[in-house]
Amino acid sequence: MGLLIKNGEIVTAESRVRGDIFIENETISAIGTGLAVPPGTEVIEATGKLVFPGFIDPHVHIYLPFMGTFAKDNHAAASAAALIGGTTTFIEMACPSRKEDTLETYHTWKQKAEGNSACDYAFHMGVSRFDDKTEAQLTEVVKDGTTSFKIFLSYKNFFGLDDEEMFHTLKLAAKLGVITTAHCENAELVSQLQQQLLAEGKTGSEWHEPSRPEAIEAEGTTRFATFVEQTGATGYVVHLSCAPALRAAMEAKMRGVNLHIESVLPHFLLDKSYAERAGVEGMKHIMSPPLRDKRNLPVLWNALKSGLIETVGTDHCPFDTEQKLMGAKAFTQIPNGIPGIEDRVNLMYTYGVKRGGLSIHRFVEALSTNAAKLFGLYPRKGTIAVGADADLVIYDTEYRGKISAATHHGINNYNGFEGFAIEGRPSVVTVRGKVQARDGAFVGQAGRGRMLRREPRL
Ligand code: URP
Ligand code: ZN
Ligand code: ZN
Repeated sequence: MGLLIKNGEIVTAESRVRGDIFIENETISAIGTGLAVPPGTEVIEATGKLVFPGFIDPHVHIYLPFMGTFAKDNHAAASAAALIGGTTTFIEMACPSRKEDTLETYHTWKQKAEGNSACDYAFHMGVSRFDDKTEAQLTEVVKDGTTSFKIFLSYKNFFGLDDEEMFHTLKLAAKLGVITTAHCENAELVSQLQQQLLAEGKTGSEWHEPSRPEAIEAEGTTRFATFVEQTGATGYVVHLSCAPALRAAMEAKMRGVNLHIESVLPHFLLDKSYAERAGVEGMKHIMSPPLRDKRNLPVLWNALKSGLIETVGTDHCPFDTEQKLMGAKAFTQIPNGIPGIEDRVNLMYTYGVKRGGLSIHRFVEALSTNAAKLFGLYPRKGTIAVGADADLVIYDTEYRGKISAATHHGINNYNGFEGFAIEGRPSVVTVRGKVQARDGAFVGQAGRGRMLRREPRL
């Protein structure tokens, strides 16, 4: 049986038109006005609503052993929360520690998601060391359709690569035609500053930002960009948080380096004063790169509006308050991460499109289309077109509400955006033509999500 989305305002990265969308066999088969459809077609009335392509979150952590614990999430809960918030595809970081085997890690992450995610998903393959097995293993991962890598310049002795390993990873990425995403902070400087601050008795969460100052992120960004340039690779800076790092990335782009920029939800809306709150309240807002001085926030919004920041992810990475309290005696032990998979679309719509002068087309581009293009999912995902997967978000711009842990759908016991007002939320969310969420509730089929296999860029 087909599905007709009737008379909505269809908004993509390029256009805004009123019309109908007809879906058959998981894909969009017609777009037009007053479409004639076969008897028995299910009809969803979208008059007065916006219809967006399903949103794509290019940066999430769901299964993650990290900092002596595990992220507080699973694929069933995270994907339901994502769908309620309008995200129909996420790309998860499969992150081995330096001690772990690349292929074993890849299979572990695939097994965790398979049959459990309610939305579609893909992986960025973490590369945490480069030894004589790595080239063959990564080649196998790419053949399996995972055509993006993730490296960390930070997290010394855990996820972090040294420069020699980064060079070989980027060389291989260039050869295989895959894009490499990178967490850009100088690991050694962070480690030294952490030790210095702790030795001075500066142990609270307010010292997290000073232990990873903006200059350290700018250095990591410059170094990554230089390695991308010298290896002929394609680079993607994840969670860029501040003006000096943006300047570093722009300098590289201006000289022709093939570099792309992502920023993530917390850095647009929260500043370092959240991490300076007393006790566990501050710890809830510890992530890396850290929440920054508030003068950076308008810089990120302006860069997003002008297209310098190309994608907006979440860096969804939940740890509950008990886990956060592991760092009660030393900020270096607070598990890093802030959840947000359910809230990205509504918050960026509210504070960007409704209140902040962000064009609705840039919004769609940055939260969906560009990720699809950069990570090999376009035009199957990231747009509304005949032949595309019928991943659609029918959006109610009249909805008014507040973000709260009391009402969110993630399994974490706090929400970093507690109390933020939202003006709009998804009314109906489809994945490949099946309604998976409605008006703040998951109504779909658990475990229906598919792993998206992608082609290299060559
Ligand atoms: O603090 C963060 N960002 N936690 C998740 C791991 C990472 O660095 O992306
Ligand atoms: Zn990171
Ligand atoms: Zn991350």
